[in-house]
Amino acid sequence: MKAAVFYYSQSGQALKAAESICGSMSAVYKEITPQHNYPFPWSRKEFFQVFPETRLGIPPSGIEPLDFSDIADADIVIISGQSWFLSPSLPLQSFFSDEKVKEYLKGRNIVFVNSCRNMWLMTSRKVKEYIKQAGAKLAGHIVLQDRASNLVSAVTIIRWLMKGKKEATRILPAAGVSEEDIRGASRFGSVIENAVGEGKLSGLQAALLEKGAISYKPSVLTIEKTGHRIFGFWAKFIRKKGDYGDRKRQGRLTLFYWYLLFVLFALSPLVQLFFWITYPLRRVKQNREIDCNV
Ligand SMILES: Cc1cc2nc3c(=O)[nH]c(=O)nc-3n(C[C@H](O)[C@H](O)[C@H](O)COP(=O)(O)O)c2cc1C
Repeated sequence: MKAAVFYYSQSGQALKAAESICGSMSAVYKEITPQHNYPFPWSRKEFFQVFPETRLGIPPSGIEPLDFSDIADADIVIISGQSWFLSPSLPLQSFFSDEKVKEYLKGRNIVFVNSCRNMWLMTSRKVKEYIKQAGAKLAGHIVLQDRASNLVSAVTIIRWLMKGKKEATRILPAAGVSEEDIRGASRFGSVIENAVGEGKLSGLQAALLEKGAISYKPSVLTIEKTGHRIFGFWAKFIRKKGDYGDRKRQGRLTLFYWYLLFVLFALSPLVQLFFWITYPLRRVKQNREIDCNV
């Protein structure tokens, strides 16, 4: 069995996830290189500059051309990436928008691996749209996420993305997906290999979910769904002042920064509390089935 693995990763996390999953397969790795260079670590200005285009799906550049000649005979495609601002990262969006990529993906089965903090749902919806537009099929969806609480992971990810410091401190855990979870992701590889070998890709997602491919946190996803809608208004509001990099939009980006801090640290805990109080009224089981399906 041969896998074509496309990945984008700033810190190496999404690549490690792909390597762990594909450990026992014959895999050809293809790095997604956006023509626009995104920094790591990020300054506050650069970080917020990418928000409107990420949320609205308007990548500021395409990607460097990819060579598909050695993966024409791949049995499965694995795409490993991450969420930015409750959407696929801009490099992933550039990748999916590329005509040559769409041509390659057409008719193929894809496994999407998202290594993010904890908000992956709206990313998966957008990725499903991109895959459908390319005439391909999403056969599997794996989410690797930070195990820390929503509040703690918000602090550690800011430290990681802005200062490059991932390691634990005396009071905080390490940021991102744990080494243990990355190593553990190797168990998904054999599930994928079996499904491809037996030609039973329609049952792949069920088999992956049985192995814990998505840890479903309904209260966090409730915040995400609402946040995604509100982010849409903010993104349009900011873009009224100009396109990517336009200095005229700086004032509105700063407003959004303060708004995001308020939401992350003041509003989110209250929304989570409200979610658990109203839990019996919510259709968590049905939503879980829809959200985790492909
Ligand atoms: C600009 C930006 C926005 C992000 N927004 C989210 C998000 O909305 N949800 C989430 O779970 N993680 C978010 N993350 C974390 C990423 O999904 C990812 O885990 C982290 O950037 C490491 O990815 P890497 O493999 O590129 O190093 C964000 C990261 C960046 C850089």
